Amino acid sequence: MSPEERKANGPLFNTLRDRVTEAIAARKTELQTEALNARLASERIDVTLPVRPEPQGTIHPVSQVLDEVTAIFADLGFAVAEGPDIEFDDYNFTKLNIPPDHPARQMHDTFYVAKQGDGSRHVLRTHTSPVQVRTMLKQKPPIRIISPGRAYRVDSDATHSPMFHQYEGLVIDESASLANLKWVLEEFYKAFFEVAQVELRARPSYFPFTEPSVEWDLRCDRSVPGRIVFGQGNDWLELAGSGMVHPRVLEMCGIDSGRYQGFAFGGGLDRLAMLKYGIPDIRPFFESDLRWLRHFGFAALDVPTLDGGLSR
Ligand code: DAH
Repeated sequence: MSPEERKANGPLFNTLRDRVTEAIAARKTELQTEALNARLASERIDVTLPVRPEPQGTIHPVSQVLDEVTAIFADLGFAVAEGPDIEFDDYNFTKLNIPPDHPARQMHDTFYVAKQGDGSRHVLRTHTSPVQVRTMLKQKPPIRIISPGRAYRVDSDATHSPMFHQYEGLVIDESASLANLKWVLEEFYKAFFEVAQVELRARPSYFPFTEPSVEWDLRCDRSVPGRIVFGQGNDWLELAGSGMVHPRVLEMCGIDSGRYQGFAFGGGLDRLAMLKYGIPDIRPFFESDLRWLRHFGFAALDVPTLDGGLSR
């Protein structure tokens, strides 16, 4: 353009450029607002909704009972001790005064693990009693432990499972007696079955690792079929084996039997669960059938405590 033409058209072009710039800016803002609105809409949160969905899983009755038993004994001043499922033959038997060739070994229907290089054998522990050995070997008296855990025996029917659960108690000091044991068991069963009173009956028995050995029955009422009430009635239910720890066991575990004595007891955890919660057959415990778990399971967030309630 000639200078004159430029002078005449310049303002026109300038106005045009300003309008286009403005239009682009306006459209850009519009698109940004649209994008922001779409994002806000897609990320909208209804703060009135529950924080998370209802928990789906339930606590298995064995876990529940294990927590209940632990809570009760913790309150009585017992520490929890644990041992491995695959155990030395020595701890499962010999140090519990069951030497090789002892007839009591046959009562245990043991699962043996293949021989080691040195000829020794491990077993799947047939009871939780080897935890007594492990505890005494590494801890000096006074000892007060409870040990819940798995045990294994070649056995299977409505009330026996090849893998099952036991709890083991051990108290060692200078004066622990059978009378103390009876009191501990009474307190335990009262708390566990959530009744005001229980009555225990002692029966002489035999375990190689205790002397004397006592089995305990609990008074109960089974007059209504399918129902059992503790603390009353005319029936007796066998619940635990126990006794004063055999001096030989103390000595084999490095404890001076001239100075220390103590009691031990043990029973079935699955059995306690069956009795307390009316579960007739042990086999479904370990079949992972969701319908069974939903029916017999416990709310996941209700942790059993003595003051907050054991089973509610
Ligand atoms: N270990 C025994 C069993 O499985 C139960 C038992 C009996 C444990 C007497 C003990 C005890 O601690 O003193 O049959």
